Amino acid sequence: MASRMTTDLALDPADRACLAGERGEGARLAAQLVTSLGRIYGAERLVPVASVQVAGVSYRNLGAAGLEFLREWAGKGAAARVPAMLNPAGMDLVAWRAHGIPEEFGLRQLEVIEAYARLGVVPTCTCTPYLVGYAPHYGEHLAWSESSAVVFANSILGARTNREGGPGALAAAILGKTACYGLHLDGARRATLVVDVACPLRTTADFGALGYLVGRVAGDGVPLLRLWEPPDGLEAQADLLRSPFLPHLKALGAAMAASGAVALFHIAGVTPEAREQGEEIIAPGAAHLRIDDLSPAYGELGTGGDAVDVVSIGCPHASLAELAQAAALVGGRRVSRPLWITTSRAVLDEARRQGLLAALERAGATVMADTCLVVAPMRHFGFRVVATDSAKLATYAPGHCGLAARYGPLEACLDAAVTGVMRDG
Ligand code: F3S
Repeated sequence: MASRMTTDLALDPADRACLAGERGEGARLAAQLVTSLGRIYGAERLVPVASVQVAGVSYRNLGAAGLEFLREWAGKGAAARVPAMLNPAGMDLVAWRAHGIPEEFGLRQLEVIEAYARLGVVPTCTCTPYLVGYAPHYGEHLAWSESSAVVFANSILGARTNREGGPGALAAAILGKTACYGLHLDGARRATLVVDVACPLRTTADFGALGYLVGRVAGDGVPLLRLWEPPDGLEAQADLLRSPFLPHLKALGAAMAASGAVALFHIAGVTPEAREQGEEIIAPGAAHLRIDDLSPAYGELGTGGDAVDVVSIGCPHASLAELAQAAALVGGRRVSRPLWITTSRAVLDEARRQGLLAALERAGATVMADTCLVVAPMRHFGFRVVATDSAKLATYAPGHCGLAARYGPLEACLDAAVTGVMRDG
Protein backbone atom coordinates (compact mmCIF):
# COMPACT_ATOMS: atom_id res chain seq x y z
CA MET A 1 0.00 0.00 0.00
CA ALA A 2 1.27 3.49 -0.82
CA SER A 3 2.78 5.44 2.05
CA ARG A 4 0.80 8.42 3.26
CA MET A 5 2.20 11.61 1.81
CA THR A 6 1.12 14.86 0.24
CA THR A 7 1.60 15.04 -3.51
CA ASP A 8 0.35 16.82 -6.60
CA LEU A 9 -2.92 15.30 -7.69
CA ALA A 10 -3.74 15.91 -11.35
CA LEU A 11 -7.40 16.79 -11.90
CA ASP A 12 -9.21 17.07 -15.22
CA PRO A 13 -11.62 19.94 -16.00
CA ALA A 14 -14.67 17.86 -15.00
CA ASP A 15 -13.13 17.09 -11.59
CA ARG A 16 -12.28 20.74 -11.07
CA ALA A 17 -15.79 21.82 -12.04
CA CYS A 18 -17.18 19.32 -9.56
CA LEU A 19 -14.90 20.67 -6.83
CA ALA A 20 -16.11 24.17 -7.66
CA GLY A 21 -19.70 23.08 -7.00
CA GLU A 22 -20.91 23.06 -10.61
CA ARG A 23 -22.58 19.65 -10.11
CA GLY A 24 -24.17 20.75 -6.84
CA GLU A 25 -23.15 20.80 -3.22
CA GLY A 26 -23.46 17.01 -2.73
CA ALA A 27 -21.11 16.25 -5.61
CA ARG A 28 -18.73 18.96 -4.37
CA LEU A 29 -18.50 17.25 -0.95
CA ALA A 30 -17.87 13.90 -2.63
CA ALA A 31 -15.13 15.33 -4.86
CA GLN A 32 -13.55 16.99 -1.86
CA LEU A 33 -13.42 13.68 0.04
CA VAL A 34 -12.03 11.67 -2.90
CA THR A 35 -9.33 14.24 -3.67
CA SER A 36 -8.38 14.63 0.00
CA LEU A 37 -7.94 10.84 0.30
CA GLY A 38 -5.95 10.89 -2.93
CA ARG A 39 -3.56 13.49 -1.55
CA ILE A 40 -3.19 11.65 1.77
CA TYR A 41 -2.28 8.41 -0.02
CA GLY A 42 0.02 10.03 -2.57
CA ALA A 43 -2.15 9.46 -5.66
CA GLU A 44 -1.11 11.31 -8.80
CA ARG A 45 -4.49 11.05 -10.52
CA LEU A 46 -8.04 9.84 -10.18
CA VAL A 47 -9.32 6.80 -12.06
CA PRO A 48 -12.91 6.11 -13.25
CA VAL A 49 -14.54 3.18 -11.45
CA ALA A 50 -16.82 0.56 -13.03
CA SER A 51 -18.75 -0.03 -9.80
CA VAL A 52 -18.81 0.79 -6.12
CA GLN A 53 -19.69 -1.33 -3.12
CA VAL A 54 -20.48 0.56 0.07
CA ALA A 55 -19.99 -0.87 3.58
CA GLY A 56 -21.34 0.87 6.66
CA VAL A 57 -24.96 -0.18 6.27
CA SER A 58 -25.98 -1.73 9.58
CA TYR A 59 -27.65 0.74 11.91
CA ARG A 60 -25.69 -1.00 14.67
CA ASN A 61 -22.49 0.45 13.23
CA LEU A 62 -23.83 3.68 11.74
CA GLY A 63 -26.02 4.87 14.60
CA ALA A 64 -27.96 8.14 14.50
CA ALA A 65 -24.90 10.15 13.42
CA GLY A 66 -24.27 7.92 10.39
CA LEU A 67 -27.92 8.08 9.35
CA GLU A 68 -27.82 11.87 9.65
CA PHE A 69 -24.68 11.98 7.45
CA LEU A 70 -26.43 10.01 4.69
CA ARG A 71 -29.54 12.18 4.87
CA GLU A 72 -27.46 15.33 4.72
CA TRP A 73 -25.63 14.21 1.57
CA ALA A 74 -28.90 13.06 -0.04
CA GLY A 75 -30.48 16.41 0.90
CA LYS A 76 -27.67 18.20 -0.91
CA GLY A 77 -28.51 16.35 -4.13
CA ALA A 78 -25.63 13.84 -4.07
CA ALA A 79 -26.32 10.77 -6.24
CA ALA A 80 -24.27 7.84 -7.55
CA ARG A 81 -23.29 8.14 -11.20
CA VAL A 82 -21.89 4.58 -11.53
CA PRO A 83 -23.46 1.25 -10.44
CA ALA A 84 -23.31 1.24 -6.64
CA MET A 85 -24.56 -1.38 -4.21
CA LEU A 86 -24.66 -2.07 -0.48
CA ASN A 87 -22.96 -4.45 1.93
CA PRO A 88 -25.16 -6.46 4.36
CA ALA A 89 -27.50 -4.58 6.67
CA GLY A 90 -28.27 -5.36 10.31
CA MET A 91 -31.30 -7.51 9.45
CA ASP A 92 -33.29 -9.25 6.74
CA LEU A 93 -35.11 -6.30 5.21
CA VAL A 94 -38.29 -8.33 4.67
CA ALA A 95 -38.54 -10.90 7.48
CA TRP A 96 -36.86 -8.92 10.28
CA ARG A 97 -39.84 -8.94 12.62
CA ALA A 98 -40.20 -12.73 12.31
CA HIS A 99 -36.49 -13.03 13.16
CA GLY A 100 -36.94 -11.14 16.42
CA ILE A 101 -35.16 -7.90 15.52
CA PRO A 102 -36.14 -5.14 17.98
CA GLU A 103 -38.74 -2.76 16.50
CA GLU A 104 -36.74 0.42 17.08
CA PHE A 105 -33.63 -1.05 15.43
CA GLY A 106 -35.65 -2.35 12.48
CA LEU A 107 -37.30 0.98 11.76
CA ARG A 108 -33.98 2.88 11.92
CA GLN A 109 -32.36 0.27 9.65
CA LEU A 110 -35.09 0.81 7.05
CA GLU A 111 -34.44 4.56 7.23
CA VAL A 112 -30.76 3.89 6.46
CA ILE A 113 -31.72 1.84 3.38
CA GLU A 114 -34.08 4.60 2.26
CA ALA A 115 -31.33 7.23 2.62
CA TYR A 116 -28.95 5.10 0.53
CA ALA A 117 -31.70 4.64 -2.08
CA ARG A 118 -32.05 8.46 -2.32
CA LEU A 119 -28.30 8.52 -2.97
CA GLY A 120 -28.79 6.07 -5.85
CA VAL A 121 -27.19 3.09 -4.10
CA VAL A 122 -28.95 -0.22 -4.83
CA PRO A 123 -29.87 -2.16 -1.65
CA THR A 124 -28.29 -5.44 -2.76
CA CYS A 125 -27.11 -5.83 0.86
CA THR A 126 -24.63 -8.58 0.15
CA CYS A 127 -20.91 -9.21 0.53
CA THR A 128 -20.97 -11.39 -2.62
CA PRO A 129 -22.03 -8.84 -5.27
CA TYR A 130 -19.98 -10.85 -7.79
CA LEU A 131 -22.59 -13.65 -7.49
CA VAL A 132 -25.61 -11.43 -8.14
CA GLY A 133 -24.81 -9.52 -11.30
CA TYR A 134 -21.97 -7.22 -10.23
CA ALA A 135 -18.98 -9.34 -11.27
CA PRO A 136 -16.27 -6.96 -12.49
CA HIS A 137 -14.16 -7.66 -15.54
CA TYR A 138 -10.45 -8.33 -15.43
CA GLY A 139 -8.46 -5.11 -14.99
CA GLU A 140 -11.48 -2.91 -14.16
CA HIS A 141 -11.02 -0.31 -11.45
CA LEU A 142 -13.53 -0.41 -8.59
CA ALA A 143 -14.14 1.25 -5.25
CA TRP A 144 -15.37 -1.59 -3.05
CA SER A 145 -15.49 -1.60 0.75
CA GLU A 146 -16.29 -5.02 2.11
CA SER A 147 -13.01 -6.81 2.81
CA SER A 148 -14.11 -10.28 1.63
CA ALA A 149 -15.57 -8.84 -1.59
CA VAL A 150 -12.46 -6.72 -2.19
CA VAL A 151 -10.12 -9.69 -1.83
CA PHE A 152 -12.28 -11.81 -4.15
CA ALA A 153 -12.54 -9.09 -6.82
CA ASN A 154 -8.79 -8.43 -6.79
CA SER A 155 -7.53 -11.98 -6.48
CA ILE A 156 -9.98 -14.21 -8.33
CA LEU A 157 -11.40 -11.79 -10.89
CA GLY A 158 -8.31 -9.63 -11.44
CA ALA A 159 -10.18 -6.35 -10.88
CA ARG A 160 -8.46 -3.50 -9.01
CA THR A 161 -9.70 -2.00 -5.78
CA ASN A 162 -8.33 -0.88 -2.45
CA ARG A 163 -10.26 -1.60 0.74
CA GLU A 164 -12.30 1.58 0.72
CA GLY A 165 -13.91 3.02 3.82
CA GLY A 166 -17.69 3.45 3.63
CA PRO A 167 -17.74 7.27 3.12
CA GLY A 168 -14.84 7.09 0.64
CA ALA A 169 -16.68 4.48 -1.43
CA LEU A 170 -19.89 6.50 -1.37
CA ALA A 171 -17.98 9.59 -2.49
CA ALA A 172 -16.39 7.57 -5.32
CA ALA A 173 -19.86 6.47 -6.45
CA ILE A 174 -21.00 10.09 -6.60
CA LEU A 175 -17.89 11.32 -8.41
CA GLY A 176 -17.59 8.18 -10.56
CA LYS A 177 -13.87 8.03 -9.74
CA THR A 178 -11.48 7.05 -7.00
CA ALA A 179 -7.90 7.99 -6.18
CA CYS A 180 -5.39 5.91 -8.15
CA TYR A 181 -2.98 4.47 -5.59
CA GLY A 182 -2.25 1.13 -3.89
CA LEU A 183 -3.82 -1.88 -5.62
CA HIS A 184 -4.87 0.20 -8.63
CA LEU A 185 -1.18 0.21 -9.61
CA ASP A 186 0.85 -2.72 -10.96
CA GLY A 187 3.70 -2.34 -8.46
CA ALA A 188 1.51 -2.94 -5.39
CA ARG A 189 0.05 -6.13 -6.81
CA ARG A 190 3.20 -8.25 -6.66
CA ALA A 191 3.56 -10.90 -3.96
CA THR A 192 5.31 -9.83 -0.77
CA LEU A 193 4.96 -13.21 0.96
CA VAL A 194 5.46 -16.61 -0.70
CA VAL A 195 3.56 -19.35 1.13
CA ASP A 196 4.39 -23.00 0.52
CA VAL A 197 1.32 -25.01 1.48
CA ALA A 198 2.44 -28.44 2.63
CA CYS A 199 -0.64 -29.70 4.50
CA PRO A 200 -3.76 -31.42 3.16
CA LEU A 201 -6.71 -29.18 2.24
CA ARG A 202 -9.81 -31.37 2.42
CA THR A 203 -12.71 -29.03 3.18
CA THR A 204 -13.82 -25.43 2.77
CA ALA A 205 -13.07 -24.97 6.47
CA ASP A 206 -9.47 -26.07 5.78
CA PHE A 207 -9.20 -23.24 3.24
CA GLY A 208 -10.53 -20.84 5.88
CA ALA A 209 -7.99 -22.15 8.41
CA LEU A 210 -5.21 -21.69 5.86
CA GLY A 211 -6.38 -18.15 5.13
CA TYR A 212 -6.44 -17.38 8.84
CA LEU A 213 -2.81 -18.51 9.28
CA VAL A 214 -1.60 -16.69 6.15
CA GLY A 215 -3.42 -13.45 6.99
CA ARG A 216 -1.81 -13.25 10.42
CA VAL A 217 1.65 -13.24 8.84
CA ALA A 218 0.86 -11.29 5.67
CA GLY A 219 -0.77 -8.30 7.38
CA ASP A 220 -1.67 -5.92 4.54
CA GLY A 221 0.81 -7.56 2.17
CA VAL A 222 0.13 -9.75 -0.88
CA PRO A 223 0.58 -13.52 -0.37
CA LEU A 224 1.34 -15.95 -3.19
CA LEU A 225 0.18 -19.46 -2.26
CA ARG A 226 1.79 -22.41 -3.96
CA LEU A 227 1.61 -26.11 -3.56
CA TRP A 228 4.70 -27.37 -1.76
CA GLU A 229 6.27 -30.14 -3.80
CA PRO A 230 7.79 -32.80 -1.54
CA PRO A 231 11.46 -33.38 -2.39
CA ASP A 232 11.32 -37.18 -2.06
CA GLY A 233 8.65 -37.68 -4.72
CA LEU A 234 5.82 -38.26 -2.23
CA GLU A 235 2.45 -37.01 -3.35
CA ALA A 236 1.77 -33.33 -2.70
CA GLN A 237 -0.78 -32.92 0.09
CA ALA A 238 -2.60 -29.73 -0.78
CA ASP A 239 -3.64 -30.61 -4.32
CA LEU A 240 -7.09 -29.01 -3.98
CA LEU A 241 -5.09 -25.79 -4.19
CA ARG A 242 -4.57 -26.58 -7.87
CA SER A 243 -8.29 -26.64 -8.64
CA PRO A 244 -10.20 -24.87 -5.87
CA PHE A 245 -13.96 -24.35 -6.05
CA LEU A 246 -15.84 -21.11 -5.41
CA PRO A 247 -16.56 -21.80 -1.68
CA HIS A 248 -12.85 -22.55 -1.10
CA LEU A 249 -11.81 -19.25 -2.66
CA LYS A 250 -14.47 -17.25 -0.78
CA ALA A 251 -13.43 -18.80 2.53
CA LEU A 252 -9.70 -18.41 1.90
CA GLY A 253 -9.84 -14.72 1.02
CA ALA A 254 -12.37 -13.76 3.70
CA ALA A 255 -10.20 -15.39 6.37
CA MET A 256 -7.01 -13.64 5.19
CA ALA A 257 -8.82 -10.32 5.15
CA ALA A 258 -10.10 -10.91 8.70
CA SER A 259 -6.99 -12.21 10.48
CA GLY A 260 -4.81 -9.78 8.53
CA ALA A 261 -5.70 -6.97 6.17
CA VAL A 262 -5.05 -8.87 2.95
CA ALA A 263 -6.83 -7.31 -0.05
CA LEU A 264 -5.14 -9.37 -2.77
CA PHE A 265 -3.61 -12.85 -2.91
CA HIS A 266 -2.40 -15.05 -5.72
CA ILE A 267 -2.39 -18.82 -6.16
CA ALA A 268 0.40 -20.08 -8.43
CA GLY A 269 -1.03 -21.40 -11.68
CA VAL A 270 -4.63 -20.63 -10.65
CA THR A 271 -5.47 -16.94 -10.16
CA PRO A 272 -5.30 -14.73 -13.26
CA GLU A 273 -2.30 -12.52 -12.51
CA ALA A 274 -0.24 -15.45 -11.18
CA ARG A 275 -1.01 -17.45 -14.34
CA GLU A 276 -0.07 -14.51 -16.51
CA GLN A 277 3.13 -13.51 -14.76
CA GLY A 278 4.54 -16.76 -13.35
CA GLU A 279 7.54 -16.14 -11.08
CA GLU A 280 7.53 -12.46 -12.08
CA ILE A 281 4.60 -11.95 -9.72
CA ILE A 282 7.00 -12.25 -6.74
CA ALA A 283 8.35 -8.88 -5.54
CA PRO A 284 12.08 -8.62 -4.84
CA GLY A 285 12.77 -9.38 -1.17
CA ALA A 286 9.49 -11.23 -0.63
CA ALA A 287 9.29 -13.13 2.67
CA HIS A 288 8.70 -16.90 2.81
CA LEU A 289 6.42 -19.03 4.94
CA ARG A 290 5.69 -22.76 4.97
CA ILE A 291 2.46 -24.09 6.43
CA ASP A 292 2.29 -27.79 7.16
CA ASP A 293 -0.30 -27.89 9.92
CA LEU A 294 -3.71 -26.23 10.12
CA SER A 295 -4.50 -27.31 13.69
CA PRO A 296 -3.24 -24.04 15.27
CA ALA A 297 -5.97 -22.21 13.33
CA TYR A 298 -8.70 -24.59 14.49
CA GLY A 299 -7.42 -24.22 18.06
CA GLU A 300 -7.27 -20.43 18.05
CA LEU A 301 -10.63 -20.00 16.32
CA GLY A 302 -12.36 -22.31 18.81
CA THR A 303 -12.92 -19.96 21.73
CA GLY A 304 -16.10 -21.68 22.96
CA GLY A 305 -16.93 -24.99 24.61
CA ASP A 306 -18.63 -27.96 22.94
CA ALA A 307 -22.20 -26.86 23.71
CA VAL A 308 -23.43 -24.34 21.14
CA ASP A 309 -26.44 -21.99 21.20
CA VAL A 310 -26.62 -21.03 17.53
CA VAL A 311 -25.09 -22.22 14.26
CA SER A 312 -24.20 -19.86 11.43
CA ILE A 313 -23.54 -20.78 7.80
CA GLY A 314 -23.07 -18.31 4.95
CA CYS A 315 -20.15 -15.99 5.72
CA PRO A 316 -19.39 -14.77 3.07
CA HIS A 317 -22.98 -15.01 1.85
CA ALA A 318 -23.87 -18.52 0.68
CA SER A 319 -24.06 -19.29 -3.03
CA LEU A 320 -26.89 -21.39 -4.46
CA ALA A 321 -24.59 -24.44 -4.57
CA GLU A 322 -23.71 -23.96 -0.90
CA LEU A 323 -27.40 -23.80 0.04
CA ALA A 324 -27.99 -26.99 -1.96
CA GLN A 325 -25.09 -28.66 -0.17
CA ALA A 326 -26.44 -27.62 3.24
CA ALA A 327 -29.90 -28.90 2.32
CA ALA A 328 -28.44 -32.24 1.22
CA LEU A 329 -26.26 -32.62 4.32
CA VAL A 330 -28.96 -31.78 6.83
CA GLY A 331 -31.11 -34.44 5.14
CA GLY A 332 -34.34 -35.29 6.93
CA ARG A 333 -33.05 -34.24 10.36
CA ARG A 334 -34.47 -31.47 12.59
CA VAL A 335 -32.27 -28.90 14.25
CA SER A 336 -32.39 -28.42 18.02
CA ARG A 337 -30.45 -25.12 17.95
CA PRO A 338 -31.13 -22.08 15.75
CA LEU A 339 -29.45 -22.66 12.38
CA TRP A 340 -29.06 -19.29 10.66
CA ILE A 341 -27.98 -19.36 7.04
CA THR A 342 -27.16 -15.98 5.50
CA THR A 343 -27.22 -15.20 1.80
CA SER A 344 -28.14 -12.53 -0.72
CA ARG A 345 -31.74 -11.72 -1.65
CA ALA A 346 -31.20 -12.88 -5.25
CA VAL A 347 -29.82 -16.26 -4.14
CA LEU A 348 -32.57 -16.69 -1.54
CA ASP A 349 -35.26 -16.05 -4.17
CA GLU A 350 -33.67 -18.52 -6.58
CA ALA A 351 -33.28 -21.10 -3.80
CA ARG A 352 -36.98 -20.74 -3.05
CA ARG A 353 -37.82 -21.23 -6.73
CA GLN A 354 -35.72 -24.40 -6.84
CA GLY A 355 -37.30 -25.85 -3.69
CA LEU A 356 -34.09 -25.68 -1.63
CA LEU A 357 -35.59 -23.34 0.95
CA ALA A 358 -38.44 -25.72 1.70
CA ALA A 359 -35.95 -28.50 2.46
CA LEU A 360 -33.93 -26.27 4.80
CA GLU A 361 -37.00 -24.84 6.50
CA ARG A 362 -38.44 -28.33 7.08
CA ALA A 363 -35.25 -29.03 9.01
CA GLY A 364 -35.92 -25.91 11.10
CA ALA A 365 -33.23 -23.70 9.52
CA THR A 366 -33.76 -19.97 9.06
CA VAL A 367 -32.43 -18.67 5.76
CA MET A 368 -31.90 -14.92 5.96
CA ALA A 369 -31.12 -12.44 3.19
CA ASP A 370 -29.51 -8.98 3.38
CA THR A 371 -27.64 -9.52 6.65
CA CYS A 372 -25.10 -11.50 8.67
CA LEU A 373 -24.25 -12.10 12.32
CA VAL A 374 -21.28 -9.71 12.35
CA VAL A 375 -23.46 -6.69 11.56
CA ALA A 376 -26.74 -7.81 13.21
CA PRO A 377 -27.62 -6.73 16.78
CA MET A 378 -26.52 -10.13 18.12
CA ARG A 379 -26.21 -9.13 21.78
CA HIS A 380 -29.99 -8.74 21.83
CA PHE A 381 -30.46 -12.52 21.37
CA GLY A 382 -28.49 -13.68 24.41
CA PHE A 383 -26.54 -16.45 22.66
CA ARG A 384 -23.13 -17.35 24.09
CA VAL A 385 -21.50 -19.77 21.64
CA VAL A 386 -21.79 -19.89 17.85
CA ALA A 387 -20.66 -22.81 15.70
CA THR A 388 -19.58 -21.79 12.22
CA ASP A 389 -17.72 -22.99 9.15
CA SER A 390 -16.45 -19.43 8.53
CA ALA A 391 -13.00 -18.48 9.78
CA LYS A 392 -13.98 -14.84 9.28
CA LEU A 393 -17.02 -15.12 11.54
CA ALA A 394 -15.04 -17.14 14.10
CA THR A 395 -12.42 -14.35 14.12
CA TYR A 396 -14.96 -11.56 14.58
CA ALA A 397 -17.55 -13.31 16.79
CA PRO A 398 -15.98 -12.46 20.17
CA GLY A 399 -15.38 -8.76 19.43
CA HIS A 400 -18.28 -7.92 17.14
CA CYS A 401 -21.04 -10.22 18.37
CA GLY A 402 -20.10 -10.95 21.99
CA LEU A 403 -20.01 -14.66 21.11
CA ALA A 404 -17.43 -17.36 21.69
CA ALA A 405 -16.95 -19.48 18.57
CA ARG A 406 -16.49 -23.08 17.53
CA TYR A 407 -14.98 -23.52 14.11
CA GLY A 408 -15.29 -26.57 11.88
CA PRO A 409 -16.44 -28.01 8.56
CA LEU A 410 -20.00 -27.60 7.33
CA GLU A 411 -20.91 -31.19 8.24
CA ALA A 412 -19.80 -30.69 11.86
CA CYS A 413 -21.71 -27.40 12.10
CA LEU A 414 -24.92 -28.99 10.79
CA ASP A 415 -24.48 -31.90 13.22
CA ALA A 416 -24.08 -29.31 16.00
CA ALA A 417 -27.33 -27.66 14.95
CA VAL A 418 -29.06 -31.04 15.35
CA THR A 419 -27.37 -32.25 18.55
CA GLY A 420 -26.41 -28.96 20.21
CA VAL A 421 -22.83 -30.21 20.53
CA MET A 422 -19.89 -29.31 18.27
CA ARG A 423 -17.49 -32.18 17.76
CA ASP A 424 -14.02 -31.68 16.35
CA GLY A 425 -14.31 -31.69 12.56
FE1 F3S B 1 -20.15 -11.17 4.58
FE2 F3S B 1 -20.86 -10.60 7.00
FE3 F3S B 1 -19.19 -12.53 6.59
S1 F3S B 1 -20.40 -9.15 5.44
S2 F3S B 1 -18.08 -11.92 4.77
S3 F3S B 1 -21.32 -12.50 5.91
S4 F3S B 1 -19.02 -11.00 8.18
